[in-house]
Amino acid sequence: MTRLLVCVTVLFCATVVYGGHEKYEGHQLYRISCTTEEIAYLEAYLDLLSMTPAARTSSGKIEALVRLSPKDKGQWLQHFNDKNISYRKIADNLADILRQDEIQIEAARSAARRAGKSMTWDTYYRYKEVNDYLDELAATYPELVTVINAGLSYEGRQIKYVRISTTRFENLRKPVIVIDAMVHSNEWVTTPVALYIINQLVVDIVDRRLTEQIDWVIIPLANPDGYEYSWEEDRLWRKTRSKNHEFGEECPGVDGNRNFDHYWGTSELSADPCSNNYHGPSVFSEPEIRVIRNAVLAHLQRTPLYISVHSWGNMILYAWGQNGTLPANGLVLHLAGVRMATAIDALALDKADRYVVGNAAHVLYFTTGTSRDWTRAIGIPLTYTLELPGYEYGFLVPPTYVNQIVKETWAGIVEGANYVLSTW
Ligand SMILES: *[C@@H]1O[C@H](CO)[C@@H](O)[C@H](O)[C@H]1NC(C)=O
Repeated sequence: MTRLLVCVTVLFCATVVYGGHEKYEGHQLYRISCTTEEIAYLEAYLDLLSMTPAARTSSGKIEALVRLSPKDKGQWLQHFNDKNISYRKIADNLADILRQDEIQIEAARSAARRAGKSMTWDTYYRYKEVNDYLDELAATYPELVTVINAGLSYEGRQIKYVRISTTRFENLRKPVIVIDAMVHSNEWVTTPVALYIINQLVVDIVDRRLTEQIDWVIIPLANPDGYEYSWEEDRLWRKTRSKNHEFGEECPGVDGNRNFDHYWGTSELSADPCSNNYHGPSVFSEPEIRVIRNAVLAHLQRTPLYISVHSWGNMILYAWGQNGTLPANGLVLHLAGVRMATAIDALALDKADRYVVGNAAHVLYFTTGTSRDWTRAIGIPLTYTLELPGYEYGFLVPPTYVNQIVKETWAGIVEGANYVLSTW
């Protein structure tokens, strides 16, 4: 780990202790355009920073932003040529982008610290800061918030989540909404989105009905090992950090969103421990994913809505991701998804892509072992993968956009909650 001391002025002097960015020195970003089958393969072996579904591109193909290292660039460009994948370079040095991003993040963090705020919506917070914030909320609003210490991550970090309810989860007639975030640790903006939902329900109390009539389970930081690793060593780290599998030392980590018990292990692309989409040595092998499983199962009978928050693409995706057919309630899934999307789009930046709502396999590509499909299969009627906006660089969302994204996404969550109330 590199320790850099960046002193911009005498007044503003930030110690930047994270990084690992030098490993991306000279790595370039390319925008490519390819078919669905090709993108699933590329995602397993290349870092994809963002993806635009075919439904939205003029070419009718998927467009994606990929990172090419100086060493592998020639080989990949050759591959693109061979497969008729069109490509265009859009950035010369990923390390510079990461350093720029880090300076902005650290400046906003320092400002928040100077203002004595434990949480703001203009930057990113570390694992410990997030946990402290949750504990602080539970201490300040004990009648509304309970923090659950749900279990330890592979490296031994406590995974916390909150239960929010005006009735302490004792009124079994209320519906439960379950939301998780940061299963993929490079998708940093997902945790602020989850925290902002908590904030709106608990601190700002924008609509008391939402907690009087609904119980909420919110897991804001599901993969703390991966997240801390992404601050310290590798901003692009997606998986967990477990090593309980073949090649675990060379290729640690499991893709949490391929580790659920739904057609688990049936995709070749997720079988390779060194791929970004590795499904793990067994179903629910990851302690982080078992936390989500247990939180979902705890109130399953009265949970009508589950949302897994991910980053990039402006998409609301529903089942079935492994075969592309629709569940029996496909129409309702679509309708509720469109309502959420419309509410978000109404507040979106002009330059943002409008949300695409659809079946995961049709909009993107086939996937197995996802939380969205597993939760649908065990009986939750409305289950979604929510892909937040990424703007220029996919999951490298500059901190200046956090405020925008948390607010527009909250509007979608409110719409989802209203849908639940109108049908419960
Ligand atoms: C697709 O998957 C769902 C969920 O497992 C299943 O119920 C359905 O029969 C499958 N459809 C086809 C055509 O295989």
